[in-house]
Amino acid sequence: MNFNLSEEHKMIRDAARDFAQNELLPGVIERDEKQHFPDELVKKMGDLGFLGIMVDPKYGGSGMDTISYVLIMEELSKIDASASVIVSVNNSLVCYGLEAYGTEEQKQKYLTKLATGEFVGAFCLSEPEAGSDATSQKTTAIDKGDHYILNGTKNWITNGGRADVYLVIAQTDRDKGSHGINVFIVEKGMEGFHIGPKENKLGIRGSDTHTLQFNDVKVPKENRIGDDGSGFRFAMKTLSGGRIGIAAQAIGIASGAYELALKYSKERKAFGTEICNHQAIAFKLADMYSDIEAARYLVMRAAWDKDQGANYDVSSAVAKLQASKTAMQHTTEAVQIFGGNGFVKDYHVERLMRDAKITQIYEGTSEIQKIVISRSITKN
Ligand code: CAA
Ligand code: FAD
Repeated sequence: MNFNLSEEHKMIRDAARDFAQNELLPGVIERDEKQHFPDELVKKMGDLGFLGIMVDPKYGGSGMDTISYVLIMEELSKIDASASVIVSVNNSLVCYGLEAYGTEEQKQKYLTKLATGEFVGAFCLSEPEAGSDATSQKTTAIDKGDHYILNGTKNWITNGGRADVYLVIAQTDRDKGSHGINVFIVEKGMEGFHIGPKENKLGIRGSDTHTLQFNDVKVPKENRIGDDGSGFRFAMKTLSGGRIGIAAQAIGIASGAYELALKYSKERKAFGTEICNHQAIAFKLADMYSDIEAARYLVMRAAWDKDQGANYDVSSAVAKLQASKTAMQHTTEAVQIFGGNGFVKDYHVERLMRDAKITQIYEGTSEIQKIVISRSITKN
């Protein structure tokens, strides 16, 4: 076991840190207020290779490993989790799925553009009646020979408004249950595909989240990814990798709040001394530091499992469960350390606290991570 980052990993981390400081920090409060994330910043992330981090260079990707992905996610999330969720969805849920399960034609047509940031992707599993209970898909895709006819509603879709390519999960044969589910590539602009209004959210407000409606959308058969009936397993395998990215996002949010709170506690005076000299504050900082370190190792472990070709279904669930709990707990403590200043927007910690909450909800709630973990540890 080697706990040191390689020189290459340090360079990647520093590049993401510089980008976050120089490009994401200016305007982050305004973007949160206006619920907006400009296309120019997405393009810059694409130019830096952040939208196809793990994709093979022959498809336009950066060819990096999962550890690099985690480092980039953490650095971006320290400053702006709305930026990092764009990176996470595009990398883990869209590019990964296409590269691992797509045909060569699908890769040439879509992955090459998604990996460079020319296209942005969205992953559409959740529905009004199928969130945690993801096998209860109501969206249908009826086989018509050379095409499918897609009908249904997807909600909570990240990048829903800005994406060019949507991976849509749908039921093709209800009698087969989860084995009668497929995943399809749907392009923006296909007839019958409608994008609903943007959700007004608690956190990650720069990220656009939409309901999508599919009314008799004609999807060519060559747009189905993988073998017939493999869509649910596709979604689950893809989400295992996605959960590593969201766990890294949670670590970034937590450590962003910790770094701000530490600095503030060394400057702010009360009762004749800097507040870090009060043990109640010093112990909060010690808890933050140690919990973040512990969760970060779990995230690295899951990333390492994936890079080694080992199974990462459980290690990614453990990492997400612990990292998201740490993020919620310690962003709240950071607000406490800032006192009244923590409650206003200029000091950033209130936004980090609001952003932390989503990491316990999306890509499987904390309760769902416990289902994944408990099923694994209790099975004979
Ligand atoms: N890999 C491969 N196959 C898997 C699998 C995995 N990780 N997990 C399950 N499967 C297979 C099962 O083996 C089973 O197949 P068999 O019948 O052949 O055994 C089939 O899939 C159905 O699995 P389950 O019986 O375990 O299904 P379930 O109904 O009990 O649900 C669940 C399992 C883990 C709770 C799953 O529904 C789940 O993960 N729910 C949460 C959904 C979720 O995470 N949504 C996130 C949406 S995307 C998002 O949120 C993005 C964003 O915000 C940015
Ligand atoms: P429900 O499933 O209704 O759950 C409600 C509560 O019940 C939760 O606390 C849950 O943990 C609990 N619960 C449910 N079942 C069980 C059980 N068996 N045991 C114990 N507790 C249980 N989805 C996508 O497909 N693509 C996206 O890009 C995407 N982006 C998102 C962005 C945002 C900002 C948000 C808010 C959501 C996004 N989602 C996306 C959807 C997200 O994955 C779901 O919200 C999540 O999976 C939970 O589903 P639900 O909201 O329907 O809650």
